[in-house]
This record gives sequence, structure tokens and C-alpha cells, in this order.
Amino acid sequence: MNLEETIKKFPYPKHIAIIMDGNGRWAKNRGKLRIFGHENGTKSVKNIVESCSNLGIQCLTLYAFSTENWNRPKLEVKTLMSLLISSLKRESDKLQKNNIRLNPIGNLNLLPLKVSKELFQVVETTKSNSGMVLNLALSYGSRDEIINCVKEIGEKIKNNLISFEKIDETVINQHLYTQNLPDVDLLIRTSGEQRVSNFLLWQIAYAELYFTKVLWPDFTEQDLYKAIDNYQKRERRFGKTSEQVG
Ligand code: FPP
Repeated sequence: MNLEETIKKFPYPKHIAIIMDGNGRWAKNRGKLRIFGHENGTKSVKNIVESCSNLGIQCLTLYAFSTENWNRPKLEVKTLMSLLISSLKRESDKLQKNNIRLNPIGNLNLLPLKVSKELFQVVETTKSNSGMVLNLALSYGSRDEIINCVKEIGEKIKNNLISFEKIDETVINQHLYTQNLPDVDLLIRTSGEQRVSNFLLWQIAYAELYFTKVLWPDFTEQDLYKAIDNYQKRERRFGKTSEQVG
């Protein structure tokens, strides 16, 4: 039985998050500029979005650009922004056809106008879609998200819109960029690094972590199936004992 058929027999993770790492090294291995790696990385983005949608995954979050990435060389930042614009232009129809809803998360005010215009056009076009939610983390940092959440709640307390005593996990969830989406079940990081790099710190509280040495531009549908297969073989206890969850 092939892997695709094997994973179909067990529940899929509802929410998959991916740290797409290794574009630079992929390009370097070929004696090319880092930008070449990012260009090829967009092909993997396209493939994996399609595969997750075909499998019926509810929610996919991709770490496309972190708050720290603004500190990269200007040309690299510019190229990543251009790649984003061209990908959005190229893939908008496909997202629509596949019933995918695009939901950007992060400090979006920092994005160049050209990017946010394109982005919100696709958000608008896809807003009523009922299939997979595609969270694109852009100018995203989890600590920044938590600070923003605390400020929003504080403001509401100040204005008597919420009482201090009522703050619980649900209230926090409602004020994160990922608002009301299910917790991450499976976090994948490519390229062999084993860190979470300020990504969805609240949302990955009980996520299964999966690290692969495959560099992001080489990450295929089969690699995704491998990660899901690995996830399905784990016992998720959420703090309970094996006997309680078994
Ligand atoms: C990490 O590789 C990757 C990024 C910082 C950007 C991810 C961007 C893409 C996959 C392309 C554009 C995205 C979309 C959604 C169209 P790295 O540069 O840190 O690689 P390295 O660790 O090998 O240097």
C-alpha cells in the first residue's frame, strides 16, 4: 500500500503549520544566489497548498516571512516581496477554484503597499470559501502577536468591554492573529534545524513536532505524507496517561 492510501485510514491533523526553511542552502548547494532558492521555494508552496487542500486538511499555516526577516539584506527582502506579489497574482484563481480561504496573519501594517493591495484583493476574493484556511504568516512573530493580544485585551478592560476575571484561554484565542482557528496539531520544519523560531508559540502548545532534513525547495507531496504518517503513529496524551487516552 502506498503512503497516500495508508494515511487515509487514520485521522489527519486538523491544523498543519510549516516552517519552510532551507531555501538559501538549496541555492548555495547549486552555486546560485539565495533568491534562486526562494523562487524554487514558491513551487513547493504551490504543491503543498494543493496537496493539503486535496487531502481535506482544515487549516494550513505557512511561515513565509518573520518579523526578524526584515533584517535580511534589502535586496533579499525586496525579492521576497516581489515573489509574494507574483505568486498571489498567479495563484488567486487556483485558490478560488479549490475553495481555499486566504488568511494573512502577522503585523501586516509593515508590508509594502503593493503587497498589501494584492494580498487583500485575494483575501476579498476568497473570503466566502468554505474549504481549507490558508494562513500566510507575513511579518509574523509570535511574541509580537502575544504583545498585540495583551494590548487589545487591556484596551477592552479599560473601556469596560471585558472584565479582568473573564480572561481565559478562549479570550486569548480570540485576540490572537489566528482567531478561533484550531490549535496546531502538527508542526513541520524543513532543512534539519530543530527550533520553533518565534512561530505560533501559543498555538503549538500540544502540537507534534516533525523535523526533516529535506530543504524546502525539495519538499514534495511524498514528504508531506511521511510527516502525516509519522504524526498518526504518535500517541497524543495532552497531559493524560496512556491508559486514559487509549
Ligand atoms: C527560509 O529559508 C525561507 C524564508 C525566509 C522565506 C520563505 C519563502 C518562500 C518559500 C517563498 C515565497 C513564499 C510564498 C508564500 C509565495 P532561508 O532563506 O532561511 O534558508 P537558509 O536557512 O538555507 O538560508
